[in-house]
Amino acid sequence: MQKVLDSNIRICCIGAGYVGGPSMVVIADKCPEILVNVVDINPDRIKNWNDEEYKEIPIFEPNLLPLLKRTRGKNLFFSTDVHQEISLADIIFICVNTPTKQIGVGAGRASNLQWLELCAREIATHAKGNTIVVEKSTVPVKTAEVIKDILITETINNISKEKKYFSVLSNPEFLSEGNAIKDLQDPDRILIGGDNINAIDKLSSIYEHWVPKDKIIKTNLWSSELSKLTANAFLAQRISSINSISALCEITGADIKEVSKAIGGDKRIGNKFISSGPGFGGSCFKKDLLNLTYLCEYYGLSEVALYWNQVLEINNWQQKRISKVVIEKLFRNISGKKIAIFGFAFKADTNDTRESPSINICMDLINEGAVLKIHDPKVKEIEIQKAFEDFLENNKELKNNKKLIDLRKVWNYYDSIYDASKNVDAILILTEWSNYKTISWEEIYKVMRKPAWVFDTRLVTNPDEVKKNGIKLWVLGQG
Ligand code: UDX
Ligand code: UDX
Repeated sequence: MQKVLDSNIRICCIGAGYVGGPSMVVIADKCPEILVNVVDINPDRIKNWNDEEYKEIPIFEPNLLPLLKRTRGKNLFFSTDVHQEISLADIIFICVNTPTKQIGVGAGRASNLQWLELCAREIATHAKGNTIVVEKSTVPVKTAEVIKDILITETINNISKEKKYFSVLSNPEFLSEGNAIKDLQDPDRILIGGDNINAIDKLSSIYEHWVPKDKIIKTNLWSSELSKLTANAFLAQRISSINSISALCEITGADIKEVSKAIGGDKRIGNKFISSGPGFGGSCFKKDLLNLTYLCEYYGLSEVALYWNQVLEINNWQQKRISKVVIEKLFRNISGKKIAIFGFAFKADTNDTRESPSINICMDLINEGAVLKIHDPKVKEIEIQKAFEDFLENNKELKNNKKLIDLRKVWNYYDSIYDASKNVDAILILTEWSNYKTISWEEIYKVMRKPAWVFDTRLVTNPDEVKKNGIKLWVLGQG
């Protein structure tokens, strides 16, 4: 039973995913007088968010659970009552997924706004009175215009006596998974784009519960939307830049860790986002770069499009070159060989596998005939299988490879890194989980087939520790 709280603001968030869930948990925690209702069309997701034992919470994020326990059932509720919550809300956050289009105009590049459009239509139909609609999903520039158009058409066509008024704001999320709660509690900045100052102030008043006013940046709608794409493009560019240098380090004898430290000491460059790795993953970087290049081409800026596209090209190249190194070191033949994969999430401290470099790298190895033994502390077996199946669905030529027809025969899931290492020729570390930093290599070496290789793409191992146990080691950016 929901309480009536001492506030004139009632929030509805559509989408109980990696963005909507943590964002609303933090708002509910920081604003106890505001009623926050998170809705989702997926009943299983909602059931899991409401799990009494807190064992099935659908996303793993450090520090999420204590906040959820403090707020759920008090001023935070999860349900599938999309229409009802829309009709009661003063502010509606749209946090639905906007994946890259698979078919039609802009396929493989533009975002699929189908879900977002659907939300706008639901809001147009069911909202009452004054409603602020906040676009939080990452979207191409000018998406707010689509939402506005749908809402305005409803306002004009509405034949009922009750008038509806909508204000559309852009309030992009900058949380990084694995660090989401901290990012939300102590953001570098909050960005609110729009043209209705009252609506902007109302949304701002929520964040002002815990964010200093000077960190709340107010812009027009399009600046806000473009800033989100640009921020992610800049971050991704840093990773591709350092990854391109990692290959040069391996050839020249320089050490990428030392180079990162040396350049990061320059305040103008800074020491964040210059860790070399197997390439960036996650739901945003690739999609946002694709959106940006699509937008530039659409407006005739082909040089700009080419520039940003190169960031993606380097990312693909980095992933490909890792599987090539593994094959090369294992005597140019991995057919029938067992390889352990340590880490499937796209980064540590999340169970998210979207665009994880592990997917492409594993598929390359499987395609070459390897049998994989996969370990990840948080990603479930079913999620890995789904990621492989989705990959094959989008890669028609691989789909016909006989070895891949029965996927379950070419990989297995292990709860223990020790069991995953038994009889393997190599271990490939792809995610920087902290427990990979403290592996007892002596024990692992004993159960591996010799010569035993470790490929560390996240620079988490202590090279002396690994090598002293007889293991051959290849480290990204060191060779
Ligand atoms: C977010 C952003 O919103 C997206 O723009 C960004 O690029 C990726 O991150 P995220 O929270 O990570 O999305 O996605 P996801 O975990 O898939 O959650 C989206 C939720 O929206 C799902 O639970 C889905 O069931 C729900 N949904 C989708 C609705 O409730 N209604 C819809 O119409 C569509
Ligand atoms: C990103 C942005 O950081 C966030 O602001 C935005 O709103 C959503 O997209 P996220 O994708 O969750 O967040 O994680 P992030 O920490 O940015 O990492 C993205 C990818 O880059 C990961 O695969 C990570 O391993 C990789 N990465 C990051 C590196 O390879 N090196 C680095 O130095 C940093």
